[in-house]
Amino acid sequence: MAKQAKTNNLERILHNQGFGSRKLCRIMIINEEITVNGELCDDPSAVFELDNLHFTVQGEAWDYKEKSYLMMHKPSNYECSHKTQHHPTIYSLLPHPLVERGVQCIGRLDEDTTGLILISDDGQFIHKMSSPKHKVPKVYEVTCKHPISDEQIDHILKGVQLIDEDAPIAALDCTRLSETVIHMTLAEGKYHQVKRMVAAISNRVEGLKRIQIGELKLPEDLAVGEWRWLSENDMMALSSKNT
Ligand code: URA
Repeated sequence: MAKQAKTNNLERILHNQGFGSRKLCRIMIINEEITVNGELCDDPSAVFELDNLHFTVQGEAWDYKEKSYLMMHKPSNYECSHKTQHHPTIYSLLPHPLVERGVQCIGRLDEDTTGLILISDDGQFIHKMSSPKHKVPKVYEVTCKHPISDEQIDHILKGVQLIDEDAPIAALDCTRLSETVIHMTLAEGKYHQVKRMVAAISNRVEGLKRIQIGELKLPEDLAVGEWRWLSENDMMALSSKNT
């Protein structure tokens, strides 16, 4: 049997996509503030197929997304929380409708850490990417205060004992880029893990940037503070066999 196309009415579509209460969405539609697939629509109950639906809200273009999957280049001095304490939230860098949809970041970065962070409103995806069972590897570029010796790298690869952990934790990989900069790959996402592991080898983290999650690299052209939708290739990189 042919698969039936999913449909919904315009008022519900806008509401589900994060554009406010059903009442507010109805008012915007009646006020002729919405176009769908290139044409003005002032009927809140008009029904549309959801696949490949393009619409504009007050002149801004949107594509219909059943679920949101994004990446962001997190800046320093932003917190990965909806209720922040000392700094602005990374969610303030996203368009309001996405925040309304209840997107969450997948694992948190410290306020002074920069780099790649994933954001979604798909609970299953969030669980898969953050569950310790799946051990999605993450690569960090770590700038240390003191030069890093071969012995220190060996120690990180063999495993360091962290306070409150039962067994030593080893990096999956650790490569020196310069006297004080290393790339460290971790399978876990424990609290302050990179900083604590570097402290355990008697060094200190001066700068921390996440540059890769699974096979997905932070794109060079994604500027600090910017976000973008994950493409199909990005999603494949996140679910690749090595991940
Ligand atoms: N490890 C840390 O210490 N901080 C981060 O933000 C991420 C990993």
